[in-house]
Parts: sequence; C-alpha cells; structure tokens
Amino acid sequence: MDDLAARYDAAADDYDGTRGGDARAAAVAAEVARLAPGLGLLLDVAGGTGSVGSALAATGREVLVLDASAGMLRHAVRRLPGRVVRADARRLPLRDGAVPAVSVVWLLHLLPVADADAVLAEAARVLRPGGVLVTTVDKDLAHGPVRRTDADAADRVAAVCAGLGLEACGSGRVHGETRWVQTGDGWRVEAFRRAP
Ligand SMILES: C[S@@+](CC[C@H](N)C(=O)[O-])C[C@H]1O[C@@H](n2cnc3c(N)ncnc32)[C@H](O)[C@@H]1O
Repeated sequence: MDDLAARYDAAADDYDGTRGGDARAAAVAAEVARLAPGLGLLLDVAGGTGSVGSALAATGREVLVLDASAGMLRHAVRRLPGRVVRADARRLPLRDGAVPAVSVVWLLHLLPVADADAVLAEAARVLRPGGVLVTTVDKDLAHGPVRRTDADAADRVAAVCAGLGLEACGSGRVHGETRWVQTGDGWRVEAFRRAP
C-alpha cells in the first residue's frame, strides 16, 4: 500500500477521538442512509475505523468496510467482525454490478485527481444498475474559504460521474465536531445513481 495508507496506520489510534467519533459517524451515516436508502449491501470505500459503517449496520443494513490501512482496519474489525476487507479503492476486489450502494467518505480530497477519478470509476463499475454512490465533496470548503484540491470539487466530481453513467440524485450536508473548525454549511455529500 502507499504512503497515504501508511499515514493512516500511524493516525489510526487517535482517529476517532480527533474526527468527531461516534457522533460525527452517526451524522454521516444518517445522510448516507437518506441518500442511499435500503438495507442491501453498502460498500464503505475507505471506511477507515468503521465508525460510519457500524452506524449504518446498527440500522440493519449489510455493510462491508474496505480500506487500505491495516491500522485503521484494526478498529473496524472490532466494530464489524467479518465485514472488513483490506484493499485499494482504485482497484476494488468486487465483480461488476455487485453492490446496490457505495459510500466514499472523506477520501477524494486526499488523492491526486487521477486517483480520485479511478476511485469513482471503480465505484461506478461495482454498482448494480439503479445502485447509488454517495460521496463527500468540497471537503476543504467545510473548514474555510480555500479549496486546496480539485480532486473532490463538486462540479468536477459530478462531471466525472456523469461520464461514468452516474446521474446526480441527491445531496446533503453533515454537521459535526472534529479537531477542525467547521463553517456553518457543514460537509457536503452528493449522491449519484447508476442508470437502471
Ligand atoms: C480521512 S479517512 C476517512 C475514513 C472514513 N471514511 C471516515 O469517514 O472516518 C481516509 C481513509 O482513506 C483510506 N485510504 C487512503 N487511500 C486509500 C486507498 N487508495 N484505498 C483505500 N483506502 C484508502 C485511509 O486509510 C483512511 O482510512
């Protein structure tokens, strides 16, 4: 795995305590559930410590948490035993059209644009017709006026998704407390449906 996953290996034990813990995870999970309703399998790509995934699983949803960091996944395994896979989001180990829902929370803004697009392409590939991708976008803008990357820029992500056959089908905002100050608008999430 690459440097980014290694960074999260090192951050894993402090992650939940500095990123809003269960309260932030519950707020994100509620938006994901609203935008991609149902109890069928949801693949939480870059699901980290499994906090968002376990909040979704608590509602009865079938969840699989995928992440590249063994350190983050050690926490996810405690939360969701048997529902965790270590893999690269740019090469998902799933069949085409295998899942009805994919979430990508707080990943795209960390990646080079080409890698973010590879993640979106893989999400589109594994979604079944009618399935829904929910992803965070414009992460930096939830913390201040400056966007440091185009990788998760809302308009760009929407254009890439359109090119992958994913049609915008909803959006939302999530509020929560982390170690970073959040602007009034909160974190933005967007949903895209694969054509039935
Ligand atoms: C900011 S954390 C977000 C974790 C989780 N989604 C959440 O909301 O708490 C970013 C996560 O992306 C993972 N990650 C980074 N690059 C990845 C890749 N290429 N494939 C899979 N996971 C990756 C990291 O290991 C880390 O767990």
